[in-house]
Amino acid sequence: MTTEPAQADWQIIPPEVEFADELAFLAGFDDGPRPAGWRLTPAAVVTFVLGSDGPLKSGRTRMTISPKYVGERGLVERCVVTLAGSRGLLLVGEPGTAKSMLSELLSVGICGTGALTVQGTAGTTEDQLRYGWNYALLLAEGPSQAALVPSPVMTAMRRGAVARIEEITRCLPEVQDALVSLLSERRISVPELGDETVYANKGFAVIATANLRDRGVSEMSAALKRRFNFEHVDPISDRDAEVALVTRRTEQALADTGAAQSVDAAVVEVIVTVFRDLRSGHTGEGWSVERPSTILSTAEAVAVSSAVALTGAWFPNRGDRLRDIPGQLLGVVHKDDGDDAARLLGYWDVAVKRRADAGGAGNPWRTLWEARGQLEGTAR
Ligand SMILES: Nc1ncnc2c1ncn2[C@@H]1O[C@H](COP(=O)(O)OP(=O)(O)OP(=O)(O)O)[C@@H](O)[C@H]1O
Ligand SMILES: [Mg+2]
Repeated sequence: MTTEPAQADWQIIPPEVEFADELAFLAGFDDGPRPAGWRLTPAAVVTFVLGSDGPLKSGRTRMTISPKYVGERGLVERCVVTLAGSRGLLLVGEPGTAKSMLSELLSVGICGTGALTVQGTAGTTEDQLRYGWNYALLLAEGPSQAALVPSPVMTAMRRGAVARIEEITRCLPEVQDALVSLLSERRISVPELGDETVYANKGFAVIATANLRDRGVSEMSAALKRRFNFEHVDPISDRDAEVALVTRRTEQALADTGAAQSVDAAVVEVIVTVFRDLRSGHTGEGWSVERPSTILSTAEAVAVSSAVALTGAWFPNRGDRLRDIPGQLLGVVHKDDGDDAARLLGYWDVAVKRRADAGGAGNPWRTLWEARGQLEGTAR
């Protein structure tokens, strides 16, 4: 007998479970017309993804929809419009810009689940987009409905739901071609079962994601490109929004440990500043700094900030949390290019030093400057 872990013990709670209340509320809040097969109106999907400014009122209930994806409203609206039409949506961008998260939230808003997902890899096969077989049953009984194993895409077609294809450009060309025919014909025939054909019900849509650092989007076939609307997902442009997001995520990480610790705002400020400086190649003061070749996404900033906060929670006697920043930054920056560690040291000597020299007592940059030694010895 297998025992399912209680929901509270799941490592990741999917958004359809975590935000079930919001989804139920939004379905009633906006009862306007919606595309066939959609659970929410397009406007309510956008509100679900971005959150509401203050409480919304529906009948006697009031609810504030929590912010989730941080970004331009126009982008989310365009995504929703694409999904209500007949083309696929392709989210492209640098790693860690929340493409997968946005794709999952859009799916959940539209059809109530983000789980109908195919992970694109060099090993993805056509079967994973169409259907496969339970071979034991197939051998015992021959082809039958019971022996058919539908792909997430086939299931999405049947249900009129959203299918997600992650990292589509990693799939081999022939697998991408299979998708072309799915997207144009909107049906899958199963010749092994005679004239059985699965038709896409209304509401079926495809969201794919592609990473600009992996195999290029240019390697997608022209036929496939034509069937997708491309939307570029950029890093968070607004500094305050990035600080707020990193703070929120760090609070969550701390809450999960059950430690009664609060997020140190100065630490988050410093981390987000370092990430934004290194990402853009210049500081707020206008000094140029050398950009590492590693991507310094918000996802990485969240990881560093959470790691620093957790170190503080689990090793409470370590002293100032600011001192843990250089070591964590090295772990992010020093991935595939040894020169990046030297670039980080260069940033310390230009930006951190000047800020340390400028500030008075309680200046966090001074503590950071004093921790410079942690970066030495790894640079080449
Ligand atoms: N604009 C954003 N809004 C909300 N969260 C963000 C944003 N940018 C980054 N994040 C954080 O980054 C995490 C990772 O995002 P996600 O895995 O969706 O990125 P991705 O673009 O799919 O990356 P990859 O290209 O590596 O697959 C999110 O869970 C979130 O914590
Ligand atoms: Mg992703």
